[in-house]
Amino acid sequence: MWFKLLISLYDSGLEDPTRSGLQLIAYLDDIVVEYIQYARLVDSLYSSSTLSLDFDSAATTPERSAAHTPEPSTPQPDGVYNVPQSYVMVLGGLGYIGSHTTLELLQEGYNVLVVDDLSNSFEEVLSRITQLATIHWQAKGKKMPALQFAKMDYRTTAMHQLLSDYTAAGSSISGVIHFAAFKSVSESIAHPLAYYRNNVSGLIDLLILLEEFDIKNFVFSSSATVYGAKSNLGKPLRERDLVHFDEMVQNDDGVVETNLNGALGLTCPYGRTKYFAEAILADLAKASPSMRITALRYFNPVGCHSTGILREDPRQKPTNLFPVVASVVQGKQQQLEVFGSDWDTRDGTAVRDFIHVVDLAKGHIAAVRAASSPERHDAFRTYNLGTGNGMTVAEVIASFEAAAKRTVPAVRGPRREGDVGSCVAATDRAESELGWRATRTVDDCARDCWTALTLNQQ
Ligand code: UD1
Repeated sequence: MWFKLLISLYDSGLEDPTRSGLQLIAYLDDIVVEYIQYARLVDSLYSSSTLSLDFDSAATTPERSAAHTPEPSTPQPDGVYNVPQSYVMVLGGLGYIGSHTTLELLQEGYNVLVVDDLSNSFEEVLSRITQLATIHWQAKGKKMPALQFAKMDYRTTAMHQLLSDYTAAGSSISGVIHFAAFKSVSESIAHPLAYYRNNVSGLIDLLILLEEFDIKNFVFSSSATVYGAKSNLGKPLRERDLVHFDEMVQNDDGVVETNLNGALGLTCPYGRTKYFAEAILADLAKASPSMRITALRYFNPVGCHSTGILREDPRQKPTNLFPVVASVVQGKQQQLEVFGSDWDTRDGTAVRDFIHVVDLAKGHIAAVRAASSPERHDAFRTYNLGTGNGMTVAEVIASFEAAAKRTVPAVRGPRREGDVGSCVAATDRAESELGWRATRTVDDCARDCWTALTLNQQ
């Protein structure tokens, strides 16, 4: 019964705006222990859907080693041959956004091959994804699609072996979603070469590999950071605010003018890696028009799965707003420092477009789908994934306080290096071409984070 209640909450109730988040949390508090027990049972019954391959290639992050990319050990692809036909390969599929996307793919009926070196994630996430996907399909009376896992650094030669094995088995990789990049602004300033090596060189080698295996559908995790100084113009950012080839566009006054390619005012090496990566992808697409490359420009992904079972769970110390607020709410950190209260915004704190990670994950499924539709003609296309609604840092804090029914101690400090005052998405391109839009609010994000924190404390 509790299980059915969870299914109904998860599939519909949690999205019902008439229910308060606090009521839902109360429900979840009561049922979550029973739920986990049930999910574990279901998982053991259906564990044959999940195959885990340990290629044992040591993970490298800038923190562990800025200069060493290890060679992989020999892959052990036992069991790979007994698999279905077509997979979406998710690089970095156990990380924050990757895990939520992997779950959404499974729920949409895709077989998924996750490649992750666990450098900033945990293998346990695989069973959490399996639990949630199994429950989803169980409710429909069906078995979940296949979920396979290869523990490896996507930059090692083991990747070639993996793709060869799948090809030899008659399976195909219908698309690749690439999350396996470094993402810390401050770390990129301290270790720029490590960022360029993974986010740029790693990408180039990956693309050469995909070319060899004739994989055309490629979804790339880009960032609103590529808009650089344009963020501060006080208008929602449009995809055409950063292009990689000059194009003729009609400006806001109806005059046709040349929109010059290139970025201005990028604030950090991390941002530059995203810009370079997009430019490389655009060049590749021009040379190979049959490619279907989609660069998704994320705004500020926050929140977690509504059950709290999947959440942001990095190995590295987080510096982004939501995880820092969470750490203050839990008492792990004494107070939040608000970076800047003199921005030209409604309360002086910076404005961001916070997008719920489940909405973001759904955006990837829309991108994979649209790229394989006959209506898609461009070899390279960029889309903003945001809500179109800006929220200030102070509003986020208030939202978290309401969800947790606790005060978040905060002090106002100076602006942080590399920050912009405002960054909000124009969402019309994603809506019209991908048929996707975000539906969740910052309150939903705060509520789900709080659910995850409560769950974690049990
Ligand atoms: C940055 C990057 C973005 C990247 C994201 C994920 C830029 C311009 N943006 O987003 O591309 O995808 O990180 O790593 O490079 N804040 C505080 N106190 C804190 C933490 C944050 O006040 O302790 C404020 C920040 O100053 C900012 C807002 O909260 O105004 C959001 O910060 P954060 O969550 O770190 O994301 P961004 O800097 O917007």
